Amino acid sequence: MTTLPSALRAPVDAPQVLDRCRELVRPALVEAVARMHPWVGEMAAYSFGWCEVGGAPAVASGGKGVRQALAVLGAEAAGASGCAGVPAAVAVELVHTFSLLHDDIMDGDAARRRRPTVWKAYGTGPAVLAGDALFALAVETLAAAPGGPQAVRVLSVALGDLVRGQADDLLFTTRPWKGPQRVRPDEYRSMAEHKTGALLGCAAALGALLGGAAPAVVDGLDRAGRHLGIAFQVIDDVLGIWGDPTVTGKPVHGDLRERKKTFPVLAALDSDTPGALRLATMLEAGGDPEEAATLIETTGGRSAALTEARRHITAVETALADAALETGAVDELRSLLGYLVRRDL
Ligand code: IPE
Ligand code: MG
Ligand code: MG
Repeated sequence: MTTLPSALRAPVDAPQVLDRCRELVRPALVEAVARMHPWVGEMAAYSFGWCEVGGAPAVASGGKGVRQALAVLGAEAAGASGCAGVPAAVAVELVHTFSLLHDDIMDGDAARRRRPTVWKAYGTGPAVLAGDALFALAVETLAAAPGGPQAVRVLSVALGDLVRGQADDLLFTTRPWKGPQRVRPDEYRSMAEHKTGALLGCAAALGALLGGAAPAVVDGLDRAGRHLGIAFQVIDDVLGIWGDPTVTGKPVHGDLRERKKTFPVLAALDSDTPGALRLATMLEAGGDPEEAATLIETTGGRSAALTEARRHITAVETALADAALETGAVDELRSLLGYLVRRDL
């Protein structure tokens, strides 16, 4: 984003924050995965980038580890040691990995983080099972932590939301581009909050909960994560249409080619302009993505998406300001949140 609210431009280096949190959480994550059935554990280790298919050690990307960092920072923001947030960090990282394993099957995606997806490498049945095992392990890990029962309840809400968001996302693909059955921007907002925001919010909230935070702090962090999820998803959509492929690693207009119901498109279709009708007709006919991208922009879809993202970034900032958080930790939290949404457009 070119113009972020200034408070999110914190001086702390976000990649360093992510590294620190990953280091702190890794022993407990390794220990948890070691408790799995060896075959299922290998699929989990493969997903985390720790091994190749067959078990040989590897150093591959297991993702940025945003959720585990949010859990550690949540505990620290509550005035506790980051260690208090580690069981939450392990649980949310396991749940995230579970959701990706199953999502790649649902989406039919063959690659993730430049490697074959688990279902491609090991088979669909084994990948479903590995996801189930990760889910079970997450609940077991959290239940065993001090404050476990309440924490498991918070995680259950996020899991229910994640399923709701994923269901809407899948159903959106069969909805028409025009007419009363078309997908509205507010339906998208709800889908993104549930699919992405719920687990982000849950990560920070669980860390704070295990760190002994007051309910208002836990709620504030949950709300911040939910808005972050929507902002992140909307920005991802803008980049999916107009992003520089050398930066995003995704093909130009990839989302339009795949006919995804992204926010800029939905906002353009909802704009009540002559362009909106032309766009709907073009999308229905599977027209040229280049032309569609131009029409989305001239119909105001791109600027509506940027406005939407900024609105949620401001809401993140407000939620953080409203919760009484430890200064040092909240600087790191702000830096991390800013890093996630500050991507060149
Ligand atoms: C994945 O959603 C989110 C969940 C697993 C709940 P997407 O399908 O939109 O994300 P990617 O592109 O596969 O990571
Ligand atoms: Mg997917
Ligand atoms: Mg998906």
